[in-house]
Amino acid sequence: RAEAPVLAAARTGCVTRAARRQAVIEAKKVAVLGAAGGIGQPLSLLLKMNRMVTELSLYDIANVAGVAADLSHCNTPTQVKAYTGAEELGAALKGCELVVIPAGVPRKPGMTRDDLFNINAGIVKSLCEAVAQHCPNAVINIISNPVNSTVPICAEVLKKAGVYDKRKVMGVTSLDVVRANTFVAEAKGLDTRDVDVPVIGGHAGETILPLLSQATPKVLPWFSPEEIEQLTVRIQNAGTEVVEAKAGAGSATLSMAYAAARMAESVLLGLNGAPGVEECTYVESSLVPGFQYFASKVRLGPNGVEEILPLPPLSEYEQQGLEKMKDLLTKNIQAGIDFANKA
Ligand code: NAI
Repeated sequence: RAEAPVLAAARTGCVTRAARRQAVIEAKKVAVLGAAGGIGQPLSLLLKMNRMVTELSLYDIANVAGVAADLSHCNTPTQVKAYTGAEELGAALKGCELVVIPAGVPRKPGMTRDDLFNINAGIVKSLCEAVAQHCPNAVINIISNPVNSTVPICAEVLKKAGVYDKRKVMGVTSLDVVRANTFVAEAKGLDTRDVDVPVIGGHAGETILPLLSQATPKVLPWFSPEEIEQLTVRIQNAGTEVVEAKAGAGSATLSMAYAAARMAESVLLGLNGAPGVEECTYVESSLVPGFQYFASKVRLGPNGVEEILPLPPLSEYEQQGLEKMKDLLTKNIQAGIDFANKA
């Protein structure tokens, strides 16, 4: 049993040194659904570099054979295979322990994540039906937006199929954490690997709530209330910053692939029994009354989410943020549940 490598230079406090030392490599089959896309391609490259991933299934409706051929030439031990179109989806999923889903359309300037609902909801629904059939015990990491709604859709689909385990369905919000860590490190002159900012709530606009009062390490003087406000708004709108800079060519893909690879690595470390693995993720939760789904810090382990960690104390500003997101987040959650259960 060799030591598992982790994404070099990329870790923050979320994975302890003990976890890295004790992590073992056990064969893991991972699928990326939407693997030929802007996120799918760099994410697949990062997973090909992760020695905990022994088999990598790349699935898309088009253009994925070339991606797999290209990646297969990287001399890392991970076996890569392409699967194209619905008739090959079952084979792609068979035996998978982790399924990462970045399939769907991205935003263009002027669009909100909610504008993607009509197309992406259907894509996520059909992909989750296949997961329920072919690898019902797999952990699912959903990237496709609007995450606030696509995660409830996934849960409803799995419930209908009688295979739902709330510990295994996770919305990927790690990009919000990655961004918050980067911006705080830049503002305070810190090494970004040392910074950890929990981000709670959801993954759209004001439902993204960075807990800057809980960021570590604390450098005094800490941010003024005006700076906290500016930084919070920047973290909430960071996705739009990228959408506008790309001017119609899509949304965040490289930083998203990086953040998703980090999340996948943490899930795999947990599945392999590494202790002390924590990430923020959007899951079914009873942490905050009124929200059936909520993003917060969880402890990952052999069954997925082993424990939703208690909320730390919130500043008054963060309490107000929690109040402010109520309408939008509950509406997003209900939209997902309704979509999955119609007809
Ligand atoms: P993209 O358009 O470049 O790639 C999407 C891929 O999905 C394409 O290759 C397409 O062929 C594939 N696809 C479409 N329907 C499919 C189906 N039924 N089965 C399998 N594959 C299918 O888009 P990009 O930039 O990769 O974004 C993907 C999604 O990720 C979008 O919904 C976007 O909003 C979301 N996203 C989420 C973030 C997060 O923080 N959770 C951050 C950035 C983007």
